[in-house]
Amino acid sequence: MLNLRVSATVLGLIVSSTALSILQTPPPEPCTGNCTFIHDPSVVRRSDGTWLRFSTIGNIAIATAPALTGPWTYQGALLPQGSTIRVRDDQELWAPDVFFANDQFYAYYSVSKSGFQGSDIGVATSKTGDAGTWTDHGSVGVPKSADYNVIDANLFRECDTCDNVWTFGSAWKGVYQTSLTKDYLKWGGEIPRQVLYNSSYPLKPQTFPSITEGGFLFWWAVGGTKYYYNFFSSGACCNAADDLQAPGDEYKIMVCRATSPTGPFTDADGKNCASENGGTLVLGSHGNVYAPGGQGVIVEPGVNRVALYYHYADRSIGYAFDQFLFGFNYLDFSSGWPVVTS
Ligand SMILES: *[C@@H]1O[C@H](CO)[C@@H](O)[C@H](O)[C@H]1NC(C)=O
Ligand SMILES: *[C@@H]1O[C@H](CO)[C@@H](O)[C@H](O)[C@H]1NC(C)=O
Repeated sequence: MLNLRVSATVLGLIVSSTALSILQTPPPEPCTGNCTFIHDPSVVRRSDGTWLRFSTIGNIAIATAPALTGPWTYQGALLPQGSTIRVRDDQELWAPDVFFANDQFYAYYSVSKSGFQGSDIGVATSKTGDAGTWTDHGSVGVPKSADYNVIDANLFRECDTCDNVWTFGSAWKGVYQTSLTKDYLKWGGEIPRQVLYNSSYPLKPQTFPSITEGGFLFWWAVGGTKYYYNFFSSGACCNAADDLQAPGDEYKIMVCRATSPTGPFTDADGKNCASENGGTLVLGSHGNVYAPGGQGVIVEPGVNRVALYYHYADRSIGYAFDQFLFGFNYLDFSSGWPVVTS
């Protein structure tokens, strides 16, 4: 808050209107049905109008709804028997990323465990996306490295024949990009490039720099310029009620943009998001909303509005892992930067 006022004074009207919109951040849009036990959601809309929501829990939970607002009905697990990938015995499946191409759904999922760097990402496919219809294809085969952790996939493509950009990464040195083969099932051989990194340390002492993860690419044209927005989560994702991060260091949704899907990404102040700790806040804790993150972005057909969806804790409900909720808000890009709006 203090920072906003200082920059508003220094930079004048434009920044002060940005500050104002942050101060007036609306609550999440309504969500009915099953909106709980949600982490790292990925949402797609099927051609029959059904919305599918995938999230981290129970070998990737699948829920369906007639609208983004719900009512959401839990269907079952994406991989009821777990993955064919084995990174350790107590592994979990996390952070799905689902998209539709070649007449089928593709789901990337992470195989990991909290604090573990030897993670991997697998891919499964399905014609309908429903629970019970998914075929696991195992690891996409991105090489492991001491620089990154192979979790939090996001596949970006602009058309059927366009090159794809595959974003992944968490903690260690942040978010990386590479590309997959044309069938989206295997690593394409391009050495991963770092695109987002925050080298500063959080207030609460920890032995690694602030976490930068969950990169999600989305393009939008503003005033004739096509921008590629890299939404990401910054800070600590998961806090117990008795061990909350210092305010400001909990999860929040940030964005950087570029005029190419492969970067270089910069923030609203022009800072590079890989080498200068750049990143512009889109949605942080406000009101009862605590630690929003694990986000994705989708265009809602019909209304043609852009929705930013995410998980968050509601301070009036609790901070336990199973209490995290699904939320979304609409974005306004008219300033060139996404601003949460009602
Ligand atoms: C609600 O969805 C979660 C997964 O997000 C699932 O674990 C839980 O069993 C569902 N609850 C009901 C009542 O279906
Ligand atoms: C970088 O990390 C610091 C310390 O945790 C945090 O205050 C800041 O908001 C982070 N910046 C970005 C762009 O994530």
